[in-house]
Amino acid sequence: MPVLSKAAESSPQGKEQTVGIDDLAVYVPGLYLPLEGEFARSRGIDPGKLIKGIGIERMAVPDAHEDAATMAAMSLLLLMRRSGLQPDRIGKIYVGTESSADEAKAMGTYVIGMLEQVYGRGSFRECGTVEMKAACIATTLALESQSYWLAAEDEDKVGVVIASDVAKYPLASPGEYTQGAGSVSLLLKKNPRLLSLEQVYGHFTRDENDFFRPMGCTTAVVNGKHSNQCYLDAVTGAFDSFAARAARNGIIVPAASECVTDFLDHILFHIPYPRMVEYASAAIFRHDWKGCQRRLKVEAEIGPEPGEGDGKDAAAFQAAQADYARHFARSPQFLEAFAAKVKDTATLSRQIGNIYTGSIYLGLASLLELDRIQTGQRLGFGAYGSGCSALFFSGQVEAQAEDLPGLGLMKRLEERKAITLADYEMLHEGKREKSVVQPEQEFVLEGIDSQGYRHYKFVE
Ligand code: CAA
Repeated sequence: MPVLSKAAESSPQGKEQTVGIDDLAVYVPGLYLPLEGEFARSRGIDPGKLIKGIGIERMAVPDAHEDAATMAAMSLLLLMRRSGLQPDRIGKIYVGTESSADEAKAMGTYVIGMLEQVYGRGSFRECGTVEMKAACIATTLALESQSYWLAAEDEDKVGVVIASDVAKYPLASPGEYTQGAGSVSLLLKKNPRLLSLEQVYGHFTRDENDFFRPMGCTTAVVNGKHSNQCYLDAVTGAFDSFAARAARNGIIVPAASECVTDFLDHILFHIPYPRMVEYASAAIFRHDWKGCQRRLKVEAEIGPEPGEGDGKDAAAFQAAQADYARHFARSPQFLEAFAAKVKDTATLSRQIGNIYTGSIYLGLASLLELDRIQTGQRLGFGAYGSGCSALFFSGQVEAQAEDLPGLGLMKRLEERKAITLADYEMLHEGKREKSVVQPEQEFVLEGIDSQGYRHYKFVE
């Protein structure tokens, strides 16, 4: 007899129509830079730090003919082909990006222009599109917003949310080894095959300078350590907001000995680099377990958490907290929960790097590629966007998820071409005009005219 997860046990009976993610497609550029070897040597970094300390092995690099719009068009094309979707079914395309090349024109219009080269001119005429910017959380805010539209939609239309970004920091900066590039397209539908959203959204927002890209800059300004702390504060705040709303809605109502995370079978976080999901998990489990029995077991192993009233000054209190956090992250209870619910979500990111607003959905793709999700499971999502905001929400895996065709990402990653450090640096600085790999069956940026308008075409 199948064992029901807590999510399945706690789901409201007799639910009728749901909205959620029906399918997804991921596009990753065909080039990558290995971080071990030439790159690590040239930057004077121990490869162990990159592979273990940061968690990245290979960084996806866009070729000379690619930008965020071509990648968005590619993931949408992949999505439409794999799910047999025709343009006239799509009511709205929302694009989440912080890599837009235009200050006014919505990226979705360029994307539609490209797709119409394949599906016919005017084929997307009745589709609405908007570009959303909120650093790495834009796609998730787009998904929340589109889910409400979809619930009210009555003409059998579907929605698409596209994430597309090139994560870019200055050469030889500490952010450099957390770059990456790629796009994810999500198909949103009523009664979806993959994941029904529970429509409980917990938000957190605070004005911060952790990461930003002033007008005209091609790379982000980042206050690295501060950005990690903002991420943890915001995701914890959003988690609390989610937990309170989920309880009020009767979706997750833990008993005295239970915690909210007991009701989540997998937790997917924004993945700027894989180690960050470990820090995020430690923060969330530590916070969530405060109210339940498990905390006593952890304390029996590592001692009590230092409290502010322990007679220490601010610096000593901070040091004691950091020390406790390190011990918590090594406790068997945490390691077990992390391995069961979070670790696998970062599998693809190790080979791709940060794709900003799509990276949390790369986590979903990782679970699908590893065959880690089952009908009835509840997935919790902790999205983060610098600046800063976080959003925590949940969804339940539908029975048809098991019938979805594989995403073919492991094969795609194996087929990519490794590039030299010199080629990577030329591409990074926009100094290489000729493509490293000749494009085939893909969208390319043909050129930018004297007015700054971008011209794209599909190469057979
Ligand atoms: N072998 C193994 N591990 C090693 C090592 C070695 N030789 N040397 C160092 N390490 C470990 C360190 O001990 C540390 O691990 P612990 O935290 O467990 O101690 C880990 O490697 C990282 O080392 P540092 O803290 O020294 O890392 P850093 O100074 O290189 O900075 C960074 C890391 C802050 C993430 C920097 O790369 C950066 O600024 N990145 C861009 C910003 C970013 O991604 N921020 C994340 C939050 S913001 C966000 O999420 C939005 C977004 O997408 C940008």
